[in-house]
Amino acid sequence: MRVVSTLEELTALRRSLPEPHGLAPTMGYLHEGHLSLARRARSECASVGVSIFVNPTQFGPGEDLEKYPRDLDRDLALLEPLGVDVVWAPPAEEIYPPRFQTYVTVEELARPLEGRARPHHFRGVATVVCKLFMVFQPQRAYFGQKDGQQVVVVRRMAQDLNLPLQIVVCPTVREFDGLAMSSRNKYLARDERRAASVLFRALQRAKQSYEAGQREADLLRAEMSRTLAMEPLATEEYVSVAQPETLEELPAVDQDALLSLAVRIGRTRLIDNFLLEKGKWSTGEFTPGSKRPEEGVQHEG
Ligand code: PAJ
Repeated sequence: MRVVSTLEELTALRRSLPEPHGLAPTMGYLHEGHLSLARRARSECASVGVSIFVNPTQFGPGEDLEKYPRDLDRDLALLEPLGVDVVWAPPAEEIYPPRFQTYVTVEELARPLEGRARPHHFRGVATVVCKLFMVFQPQRAYFGQKDGQQVVVVRRMAQDLNLPLQIVVCPTVREFDGLAMSSRNKYLARDERRAASVLFRALQRAKQSYEAGQREADLLRAEMSRTLAMEPLATEEYVSVAQPETLEELPAVDQDALLSLAVRIGRTRLIDNFLLEKGKWSTGEFTPGSKRPEEGVQHEG
């Protein structure tokens, strides 16, 4: 595994790597969710690249850019055994040199849901992802369903700009109690960590309602809100039942739907989603070794 920081080194190295090349973009502080993308890329591509870059342009003022967890040595130790060929961990000046002023803006899709609380977030994401695509020239790029709106925005960008690559979406990897793995889970204090499983429980309640025949989106939203309200440490930011490609709120779920939510637990903002596509739910996978709560894991307290 080669680890490089400059654009020049990466470009030279990339030329020597066989194709198809698979890229998994990350902001580091890696967990099983990230590793699942690298593993999938390894199994489907002739060479694999991972980028580690905490992208300043996707953080808003007052967000956690400075305190976002970073540990490059640990990240590299996790990637090494997976057979990754190249890791690019550039300093910010390498991506945003002085006088940088060109951004990629995906218009409508960036406005609802996450975009409401984080108005410039997807401009930052689309810009950095576009640059990573230009530099790595991957034939396939791997993203997690965990960040559902990000997938929709990146897909739209790739299509609109005729980028010659395939976006591969990997299932959300979850902790034993359903909490979606996230670098931000590190911020949670012990009681907050216990409360954080409410995101998964709220989504599961809505899914169960759907399976019992409920099709009215407002009632599914209410089901999620009610579950969140039962957790005193959680504050709902939004719950949504939207069309998965346009992200418009649905009146009824008669075909595909993206159920998503954003919740504050103390000062930490968490998101999660379940996707209903062609009659099948994509709810994610539990980490190896962990057990589903229904299978008898004891909850504290
Ligand atoms: P980051 O939050 O580090 O996530 C990197 C990739 O890992 C994203 O595609 C994300 O959806 C995926 N991922 C995170 N948690 C996951 C989980 N529990 N299960 C499956 N996949 C998971 O997303 C970003 O970084 C940035 O916005 C980035 C795309 C790198 C652009 O800066």
